[in-house]
Amino acid sequence: NEDVPYDKTIDNTVTLLKEGYLFIPNRIRQYQSNLFETRLLGQKVICMSGKEAAELFYDSKRFQRHGALPKRIQKTLFGENAIQTMDGEAHHHRKQLFLSLMTEVNQKQLAELVTTEWTNSIRKWENDKEVILFDEAKDILCRVACQWAGVPLKDSEVKERANDFIAMVYAFGAVGPQHWKGRNARRQIEDWMKGIIEDVRDGKLSAKEGSVLYEMAFYDQEDHRHLDSHMAAVELINVIRPIVAIATFITFSALALHEHPSYKEKLQQGNSDDCHFFIQEVRRYYPFGPFLGAKVKNEFVWNQCEFKKGMLVILDVYGTNHDRQLWENPNEFNPERFKTWNNSLFDLIPQGGGEAATGHRCPGEGITIEVMKASLDFLVNKIEFDVPNQDLSYDLSEMPTLPKSGFMMNNIKRK
Ligand code: HEM
Repeated sequence: NEDVPYDKTIDNTVTLLKEGYLFIPNRIRQYQSNLFETRLLGQKVICMSGKEAAELFYDSKRFQRHGALPKRIQKTLFGENAIQTMDGEAHHHRKQLFLSLMTEVNQKQLAELVTTEWTNSIRKWENDKEVILFDEAKDILCRVACQWAGVPLKDSEVKERANDFIAMVYAFGAVGPQHWKGRNARRQIEDWMKGIIEDVRDGKLSAKEGSVLYEMAFYDQEDHRHLDSHMAAVELINVIRPIVAIATFITFSALALHEHPSYKEKLQQGNSDDCHFFIQEVRRYYPFGPFLGAKVKNEFVWNQCEFKKGMLVILDVYGTNHDRQLWENPNEFNPERFKTWNNSLFDLIPQGGGEAATGHRCPGEGITIEVMKASLDFLVNKIEFDVPNQDLSYDLSEMPTLPKSGFMMNNIKRK
């Protein structure tokens, strides 16, 4: 690949972990090319960014997911051999299961439970000296996600389970203790959920037909066999963990309100479009999922670059959400930009691109948006609070990242 920029080092893994979200965007800018080659995890990889790259990435004739996810990510974030690693008909079949659980009715139901939990928290908060929004959000979301999914969870368990779900998510770009914390968290949660699946199958625990728990326990694969209880637990976790992770976007929503008080006033007027644009801009602007990986299925050439069979290809999610060619002043927070957005499936990709039904795009976008809206409405219209001095900065070299203070609030009052 003579014409393709090559970031020459023996291996860039350490630099990637150091530069974090900006590793790919920095090089895309430096080479003035929407792709470049480098070495990561001991192999040659192609990194690419932008709308056209995203369209290519979601062409399932050219790319597969099997063999693309490093084991260290499977052992923490996703679980081994889960839906994220599947291809073709088997993936499609499993994806229908996930999508069937995320109907609009189910989304609204979850969002209403979230509103109830937020509202119930006010009384306690009025007596608290200060409250860390991220900590409250993860506990509430864990409680609500389990309730909504039909998974029994005692009050006394909530905090520990919520912390384990978060530890899996925050192990993504971590090495050392934080990585091991993620592995231990996964082990604990998998054992717990596997026991629950087995109890449902043995009739020791009742699950309502249509609930996430029931449908995971009794899902028939393509070959008409149930998932083994461990795999069913892994996929059940693939629904509950990301709901808990919405705590990150909720915390960034609060930061956006704090940094842009004029939008807070606008949102108080209650126009649902304004609320929608604000949420979309939070998902675009703030960093969460940094990039995605897939393997070349069949050799092809694109933009003068040879994509050789078996090569790992990385799509820059954060960089595409901040691409100058797609977004005017991408590094400004501006919800108004969504007034004229064309609803492309390949430029706003915080939760992946393409169609969720036919590819790997996140099936939980509807849920994420509804839960974020319920939480934003709560922050804007249901309470008043002060934001004391604290470190609200977030580090783009950490993947995922979060405002350092977790967003501290005090003098909280019901409106
Ligand atoms: C896949 C992001 C919330 C369930 C994904 C992907 C991303 C993503 C980037 C990968 C797309 C790809 O591989 O091409 C997020 C973010 C969320 C979120 C930032 C906000 C917290 C959710 C929720 C659920 C969920 C609430 C479930 C209720 C899944 C599943 C997949 C997935 C099951 C795998 C889909 C597949 O491989 O076909 N998500 N997600 N996510 N997400 Fe989400």
